[in-house]
Amino acid sequence: MHSELLRRARAYETAHRPGAERLLPLFHATGGVGWINDPNGFSLYKGRVHLFFQYYPYTLHWGPMHWGHACTDDFVRWEYLPAALAPDAPFDRDGCFSGSAAELPDGRQLLLYTGVRKEPRPDGGEDEYQTQCVAVGDGIDYEKLPDNPVIDRKLLPPGGSARDFRDPKIWSDGDGFAAVAADLDADGLGQILRYRSEDGFRWRFDGVLSKNDGSLGGMWECPDFFTQDGRAVLIHSAHDMETALPEFHPGDGTVCHIGHLDAAGQLIDEHVQTMDYGLDFYAPQTLETTDGRRILIAWMQCWASAGFPPKGLPFFGQMTFPRELFLKDGRLCQQPVRELERYRRDPVRHVSVPVDTGKPLRLPGVEGRCLDLTLRVRPREKGLDAFRIRLAEDARYYTELCLLPREEKLRIDRLHSGLCADVNHLREMPVSFTSDGLTLRLLLDRWSLELFAGEGEQTAAQTIYTPLSAEGILFIAEGESLLDADCYTIKESDAP
Ligand code: FRU
Repeated sequence: MHSELLRRARAYETAHRPGAERLLPLFHATGGVGWINDPNGFSLYKGRVHLFFQYYPYTLHWGPMHWGHACTDDFVRWEYLPAALAPDAPFDRDGCFSGSAAELPDGRQLLLYTGVRKEPRPDGGEDEYQTQCVAVGDGIDYEKLPDNPVIDRKLLPPGGSARDFRDPKIWSDGDGFAAVAADLDADGLGQILRYRSEDGFRWRFDGVLSKNDGSLGGMWECPDFFTQDGRAVLIHSAHDMETALPEFHPGDGTVCHIGHLDAAGQLIDEHVQTMDYGLDFYAPQTLETTDGRRILIAWMQCWASAGFPPKGLPFFGQMTFPRELFLKDGRLCQQPVRELERYRRDPVRHVSVPVDTGKPLRLPGVEGRCLDLTLRVRPREKGLDAFRIRLAEDARYYTELCLLPREEKLRIDRLHSGLCADVNHLREMPVSFTSDGLTLRLLLDRWSLELFAGEGEQTAAQTIYTPLSAEGILFIAEGESLLDADCYTIKESDAP
């Protein structure tokens, strides 16, 4: 039996998704209609990739959190399914917050998520409680279990917060299930807690995986924990970080810890890095494919600009394109999933084109808003001070990437990308120029740009909400350079 709240959400989707379709990105997931934030339950189930997400279908603003639902067979084409959860139970009546999914031994799909509940206080104020709850289903319909929550304050370590306790990430580990969840310790700093369960329903506390020593913001949320090439990897999103350039910009950001576990099961960091240098990246989740690849997807937005939805679009909030993770020289690197290659059409190649001071250049066939574009920029003997790439460009708009070879930096400038909000529009990231120059792979998909530098050592994601007619690409050099370009248009169908 579906609640009135869930029925209403599903009816709204049925009525409004068809009209929204033609305005969606081509190969990035959204909610189909309405607001989304974090990816949830990104996992394999019965041979398909499922993606749930924080969802409020009715407006372009965050509201009482539902779980929306989409599916894909290849990470490129997304099929929108009916909303999976609505905040309709006593234990989640103020929101079904982020969580994850796993397949149960009996073939059902288990959702483990945060139920939010507010209680009035005698002084007129309000207390909020976050607990971890389960729902089981068949890939379309889910039933919340009556004995929820399955993890509550009784399973917190001493001093742990029952108010900021959320975002469980579950995985199956052979003889049962394990999970990590985010919490605040007694000093108001983030901690990532471990849990174990034989059946997915009865859980026990299994120790603290990692604790914020105060150097990486305050609250940590949306943890994910996995093994990559024999190393333990923890990813989480941190609130209110101080500047620690080049890795961390002020504000919210996503942190990756790589290390090993000690005898007590605590993560000993050997390397800490950002997951993305862009303006729009938060709350990622990963899954492991049957061929052993670890794939990451993130909310391609950030809270700082989340109050400013684009005008004239029926959706707000996109996911990054799914990325394959790999370790290189101790660093976690990312590349777009290889499945995208099947959708590349109309190849255009330019080799060793000179781009020099005072001669801005456009390359024939290199333009558009749905592209997989690889560029290689090589400084020439006389040197190169700066190399600017203006994308999604017309007389009024552009998004600029400025390469600074002498400083080994790349500057992202989104001042002219359509977002009329008094938030940060500039970012800087380190890049390495080799004797062969710098390679940049750029994915443009209507309303966004994702950049992968070098072999994927650095990435940056940002949204671009400008008219799709702004589709020019302009190259401007200060100095002398040679440019190679491999450009493909991404088309809706993978039929050759
Ligand atoms: C992260 C987050 C999560 C929470 C969800 C609520 O973006 O704040 O911690 O579960 O969003 O929508």
